[in-house]
Amino acid sequence: MSATLVETSSASQPGSLTLTHVGAYKEIAPTSFSEDDERKGTERAPPASYPHYLPVWDEKTKYEPLKPFEHVEHGKDADPTFQDLLKPGSKLADLTASIGAEITGVQLTSLDNAGKDQLALLVAHKKVVAFRDQDFAKLPIHKALDWGRYFGRLHIHPTSGAPAGYPEVHLVHRGIGDTSAQELFQTRTNSVAWHSDVTYENQPPGTTILYALDIPPSGGDTLFVNMAAAYRRLSPAFRERLHGLKAVHSAHEQAESALARGGIVRREPVSSIHPIVRTHPATGEKALFVNSQFTRYIVGYKKEESDALLKFLYDHIALSQDLQARVKWAPGTVVVWDNRVTAHSAILDWETGARRHIARITPQAEHPTE
Ligand SMILES: [Fe+2]
Repeated sequence: MSATLVETSSASQPGSLTLTHVGAYKEIAPTSFSEDDERKGTERAPPASYPHYLPVWDEKTKYEPLKPFEHVEHGKDADPTFQDLLKPGSKLADLTASIGAEITGVQLTSLDNAGKDQLALLVAHKKVVAFRDQDFAKLPIHKALDWGRYFGRLHIHPTSGAPAGYPEVHLVHRGIGDTSAQELFQTRTNSVAWHSDVTYENQPPGTTILYALDIPPSGGDTLFVNMAAAYRRLSPAFRERLHGLKAVHSAHEQAESALARGGIVRREPVSSIHPIVRTHPATGEKALFVNSQFTRYIVGYKKEESDALLKFLYDHIALSQDLQARVKWAPGTVVVWDNRVTAHSAILDWETGARRHIARITPQAEHPTE
């Protein structure tokens, strides 16, 4: 995967060069869209289906640094027969042999707590699960947030736009006539940017929910990779080499990029140190936990050593198409993934100017441990 060397500051080693990535351009600052066109529609496109989910960038409200909290991992106590989740009439089909599933005949909003526990466990095993024909987007936003809060304290993204009054919703929005694809490909050859979400936090997200509001007729799929399988694919000797290593994950560059693009920083950027290999609390699986968007360097390594090892891991993840799945969106789709044991990438492949509007609820989980 291509990457550019640029000068960075903040959490990087002093005077160092850091690998940065195409992902930095994404949903961290106001994108160019017409509020009027989104609300009323145009000759080319209908109005936004969920106008109360259109993003606003609230410059005034600032948030205090996040405090540690005790995460309860619901997947741990879940019934592994999944009987409260996969009831008669539901259907689970694997997306690939190594990662991902698609489920029909389950309404997420109807799950009781036992069903939600099993959802957390199933997603930890499958890594990403697409639920079709959901009524989730039709819930009042506060009810959707209450539903997500079961899985952990809801994260407020430091730079993203959110629906007015609901900062815990992270929005991925491109309005009618959006030209980001054309702009990106003036200077880049592809839009793939593997990452796990907000890994710079001390307690990054676990079971995470993304739901479709408006989707282009084609394009805008999301790629996922199984980071536990990517770990297991390495030789025992190499895995051993990774054990005990820690890396710095930084939000500083994202904040700088947001400000440079006219965006906001509503909580001061942080950096955290996480193990390169982490263990999932419900499954006991070990998984790689580095990503080119937020991981900066390996603690205690010299720059060339750190860059070389991280580049190998990023290439390994990006090239492992046999450990990846491509999730296709449709109206009513809700995608639940485990951010601890996956990485993902958006695909910016439609140049039709069609609206793409997706919301994320981001429960935080435990501080990663090996
Ligand atoms: Fe993401």
